[in-house]
Amino acid sequence: MEEFDLDCVLQWRNSEHVRRYMYTRHQIQADEHRAWFSRKSIDPAWHLLIFEQDRVPQGYVSIHVAGPGGVAEWGFYAAPDAPKGAGKALGIDALDHCFSTLRLQRVWGQCLASNLASVRLHERMGFSREGELRNHHFNGQTYENVFWFGILAYEWPQARTRLLT
Ligand SMILES: CC(C)(COP(=O)(O)OP(=O)(O)OC[C@H]1O[C@@H](n2cnc3c(N)ncnc32)[C@H](O)[C@@H]1OP(=O)(O)O)[C@@H](O)C(=O)NCCC(=O)NCCS
Repeated sequence: MEEFDLDCVLQWRNSEHVRRYMYTRHQIQADEHRAWFSRKSIDPAWHLLIFEQDRVPQGYVSIHVAGPGGVAEWGFYAAPDAPKGAGKALGIDALDHCFSTLRLQRVWGQCLASNLASVRLHERMGFSREGELRNHHFNGQTYENVFWFGILAYEWPQARTRLLT
């Protein structure tokens, strides 16, 4: 992700399609977004990526490597108008990057139990559902359960092949 991606990413992040499944759901203003990018883009623990198909930006991926040992949390969203299947393609590229380029050992992610597309995507990609945190997120009105997913480096090649066949 570069400075010139800021407007596009802000538009995606503020769309109802994405916002409703995030922990923070307010409309993010341009200055808040810019300040967030200024912090993260110089922090070596954070990798902010744009997913492209045929050179068209179709999604955003963050990878946060916490400490030594190659363990990272990922986050992602597809552009609201991305074609069906974009999530899967984004996931494959992201995990290839995690395990082949960054040489990570483990990638984990959390998602609201109500986020069926993300739950399905994690499962299809070979993540194990490692936990369910009950009433973990208060959305301002109700409490929501959160699923914890994880995949290890040695699991990815087989999961990748399964995904592509
Ligand atoms: C999660 C997200 C990236 C998935 O992208 P996508 O383009 O819909 O993904 P795909 O089309 O590749 O579908 C992936 C799988 O999820 C399934 N799926 C997609 N939308 C679904 C829905 N609303 N309910 C149930 N399953 C769904 C697809 O059928 C597919 O499974 P299959 O291969 O068994 O058919 C996208 O919906 C998104 O950006 N959501 C908002 C942000 C978000 O939730 N980010 C993740 C936070 S944890």
